[in-house]
Amino acid sequence: MPLQKNFKLHQYLYNNEWKSSDTGNTIEINSPDDGSIVGVVPAMSQEEVDRSIIKTANVQEEWAATDGHERSDLLHKWAEELENMKDEIGNMIHLEVGKTLTAAKSEVKRTAQLIRHTAEEGLRTHGSFIQGDAFPGASKSTKAMVQKVPHGVVLAISPFNYPVNLAASKIAPALITGNTVVFKPATQGAISGLLMIKALVKAGLPKSVVNVVTGRGSIIGDFLVTHPEVDMITFTGGTSTGQHIAKKASMIPVVLELGGKDPAIVLEDADLNKAAKEIVSGALSYSGQRCTAIKRVMVIDKVADELVEKIKTNIATLKVGKSTEEADITPLIDQKSADYVISLIDDAVKKGATVVSKGIIQDNLIGVTLLDHVSEDMRIAWEEQFGPVLPIMRVSNELEAIDLEKRNEYGLQASVFTKNLEKAFVLADRLEVGTVQVNGKTSRGPDHFPFLGVKNSGQGVQGIGRSIDSMLRDKVLVLNL
Ligand code: NAP
Ligand code: G3H
Repeated sequence: MPLQKNFKLHQYLYNNEWKSSDTGNTIEINSPDDGSIVGVVPAMSQEEVDRSIIKTANVQEEWAATDGHERSDLLHKWAEELENMKDEIGNMIHLEVGKTLTAAKSEVKRTAQLIRHTAEEGLRTHGSFIQGDAFPGASKSTKAMVQKVPHGVVLAISPFNYPVNLAASKIAPALITGNTVVFKPATQGAISGLLMIKALVKAGLPKSVVNVVTGRGSIIGDFLVTHPEVDMITFTGGTSTGQHIAKKASMIPVVLELGGKDPAIVLEDADLNKAAKEIVSGALSYSGQRCTAIKRVMVIDKVADELVEKIKTNIATLKVGKSTEEADITPLIDQKSADYVISLIDDAVKKGATVVSKGIIQDNLIGVTLLDHVSEDMRIAWEEQFGPVLPIMRVSNELEAIDLEKRNEYGLQASVFTKNLEKAFVLADRLEVGTVQVNGKTSRGPDHFPFLGVKNSGQGVQGIGRSIDSMLRDKVLVLNL
């Protein structure tokens, strides 16, 4: 494979020193665009991972003892350094995970904004004071001071699709609350994660307050999540990985943001132009590789033909090509993911789905496939595609849509398109998801909104304020006066 011109052997961070693995083992990171080698990261041994976790644990008390405004200052400086490195980090995200340069740089900018907001919000955390006399037999002179204290060492594991943003959205709330962090980036995305941490070191990170471990999750994952010095886990990634982690980790809090199969439900009275535009952007940005992407459309029969036509017209405007060409639809993260998407399309076509639009298939680059008349026996009706294919399921009324959604194993978000707000509220009440978007596409932001999945889409809540809460536990001091 050819080497990218800025190819480098990257190192992991231990105690603010950049190190290669003593074993000499490395992992090659290949560009989704053309397979060229973007760089190489260390495949750390179990002993090295162990040493990193222990060091992180050793400094936690000291970090928690610092003043909140000092920790907030560090985060503000981190945001500033990230912005200074926007071009370098943006370029690495672009090469490593195949986002366009524009999208990659905007991920860095969004991350700096998220860190700043966290730095401010974190200053406002506080405990409470409770008097005993509300409970029979207890008196006013028994008083509880409920303090908010950090868990200790937070293990942050991030996915490939937002290698910087979904890592910082875990690390920043952990740090502001006095936790120290062991950060395990997705292997595809690890270099971008390491560069993001380089910005944090430049900002003045004290030694070992964050250590980074690199290596395949399948090799070092179980060791990490079962390590006795890890006090809390925050994870974003696939449902099967998340479920595996939840089973392995015992007696510690685990926050999981997992997969989704978000529906867009389009009612008869919807603004179809708006719905089509939102659906196409919601389903297909970053080629559908977003947990929150719209992954199935349920439309009332009467307006289905019109909606499908409008979606098709919108899709036709999308440019398909390499991420270097600033295309809208770019190669998927790897061939395995592309093969999976193709298998879902083939299954649906074999079972009678109508192909409304079909794009080229060139290795891991897949043009948009719009499938109409998708029925319940097709895998694409239920499985998470994580790619540029959009299934349309026609329903005769909204009750049918609700029934379909109730049988969805996932429950991240849903969109409802209607001009009738009362109907939207009734539908929203019945949908078993973390968030319902009315007349808009499914998406996580703005980043201070609570973000959560129910059913197989996760446990716990993220979004700046809720992420901060998740990094703290109660500690009660009772005064018996
Ligand atoms: P993934 O394969 O589950 O990997 C996520 C992270 O888990 C990576 O850092 C991975 O490391 C690590 N990992 C793998 N096996 C592990 C183990 N046994 N123990 C501990 N860690 C382990 O997910 P992905 O392919 O990066 O992302 C795609 C999936 O994530 C999709 O299903 C998508 O819906 C979901 N996602 C959800 C959200 C959300 O907020 N709900 C956001 C983004 C993505 P390696 O890279 O080294 O394998
Ligand atoms: O892939 C999962 C991300 O949390 C989605 O974030 O909705 O901002 O693209 P987004």
